[in-house]
Amino acid sequence: MRKAKVILDKDFTISEVDKRIYGSFIEHLGRAIYTGIYEPGHPQADEQGFRKDVIELVKALKIPIIRYPGGNFVSGYNWEDGVGPKEQRPKRLELAWRSIEPNEVGINEFVDWTKKVDSKVMMAVNLGTRGIDEARNLVEYCNFPGGTFYSDLRKKHGYPEPHKIKVWNLGNEMDGEWQIGHKLPHEYGRLAREVAKVMRQVDPNIELVVCGSSGPGMTTFPEWERIVLEHTYDVVDYVSLHYYANFPSGPEFIELPNNPDLASFMAKNLDMDRFIKTVVSTIDYVKAVKRAKKDIHISFDEWNVWYHSFEKDRKIEPWQIAPPLLEEDYNFADAVLVGCMIITLLRHVDRVKIACLAQLVNVLAPIMTVKGGIAYRQTIYYPFLHASNYGHGIVLNPKIDSPKYDSRLYTDVPVIETIATYDEEEDTINIFAVNRDAKEDLLVEYNLKGFEKFKVLENIVYENDDPFEGNTPENPDKVVPHLANNAKVNNSILEVLLPKLSWNVIRLKKIN
Ligand code: AHR
Repeated sequence: MRKAKVILDKDFTISEVDKRIYGSFIEHLGRAIYTGIYEPGHPQADEQGFRKDVIELVKALKIPIIRYPGGNFVSGYNWEDGVGPKEQRPKRLELAWRSIEPNEVGINEFVDWTKKVDSKVMMAVNLGTRGIDEARNLVEYCNFPGGTFYSDLRKKHGYPEPHKIKVWNLGNEMDGEWQIGHKLPHEYGRLAREVAKVMRQVDPNIELVVCGSSGPGMTTFPEWERIVLEHTYDVVDYVSLHYYANFPSGPEFIELPNNPDLASFMAKNLDMDRFIKTVVSTIDYVKAVKRAKKDIHISFDEWNVWYHSFEKDRKIEPWQIAPPLLEEDYNFADAVLVGCMIITLLRHVDRVKIACLAQLVNVLAPIMTVKGGIAYRQTIYYPFLHASNYGHGIVLNPKIDSPKYDSRLYTDVPVIETIATYDEEEDTINIFAVNRDAKEDLLVEYNLKGFEKFKVLENIVYENDDPFEGNTPENPDKVVPHLANNAKVNNSILEVLLPKLSWNVIRLKKIN
């Protein structure tokens, strides 16, 4: 059996986890809102029309922050359409996703919903069709206590207290040709700066996220970040990154129709890792040019696996309310990659302070609903659940000695992907580990330096014989994790067996 060795040292740390890295995202897209979180008339609907079964599944994920209302949607959105009496709200053509937006849910209802799931809103302003004026009015409507036009309008709409929304996105993916109101970097940088200044004048307590690249494959990356940050460095707090992993495809794979390139797929988080490192370097370059003292952090506010629904989506008729767009049927391999991506985010917690799994319900989602029927967990739900529930405290910097492999797209890929967090308050170590190899188990020895008398509290394993199997409405608990006995500690040496292609959580606690 192949073996790997990892050293975890109490004194060798990366940084404390900002819990906002376990954020997520709900866009007015497809069935995320309508028949997703909101379905009046459903047997599980509460008095506002929100589905209680969905609320319970979301709450278990312990998501501290949820990005809203888009996404591409925000670049054509008039927030005023979604406030005030519901019967007066207009139905609009929604150009980003070629749908019809009924505006039954707007900012106020969404704030109510986030309270029901113990979370907070991260709000985006429209910098596609709109600009400074809309942004300042929206901050006034949401955050100003009262006595002015927009704050009093909020009160009139039934919300006497300000929403106190802390984190704001200055538009969405403004580097993308597909974006409504797409801009060149200097055009966006100038606009974002002026918008940021007025938003802060209305509420000096807010934090602002400026748009970075829509992905590392954009031709303007990383010049986009350099130029945009040169315009905005002193007036923003975070730069955003987006990354979706897809299954390797294209001409080079044609000869392998029945042999998908799983080995390359399982290494896709290495692109995410490189993306973060390049953006960190770009931020630090601009910091040096500006002789600045403050740091800009990263808001990785869209990340996930996305490739199953491309074909289906092309066949969906436009101009429907809540069409089933971007409904990914996730399989087990996707969940293991999501685990790898979470490990990458944890490895960069010194710079990544916010991250949003995109998205949350029905659209690229860990949670699916059947209209009028059940809500269920997809495979990707589980690694996120484990990390958001247990991945707290300080991230330890692991020294990893692993066997490696070459695939069609990557070379020198470590078979193991792993990270650990140490929660000082609870005296627990939580280790997350992936075995990328779909053929062989891996035996790992963790040397726990500076951690004496720790014992295994729990060992969760997510494995499945068929990597391409997932959960369905008919069989919603087909592919679920289980408790195992694969780990033992002896004199601060932890030995763990990682089954072939698996996501593993090893929870250790100090015994007094
Ligand atoms: O999450 C789906 C879409 O992906 C978002 O609307 C957009 O920002 C990105 O391209």
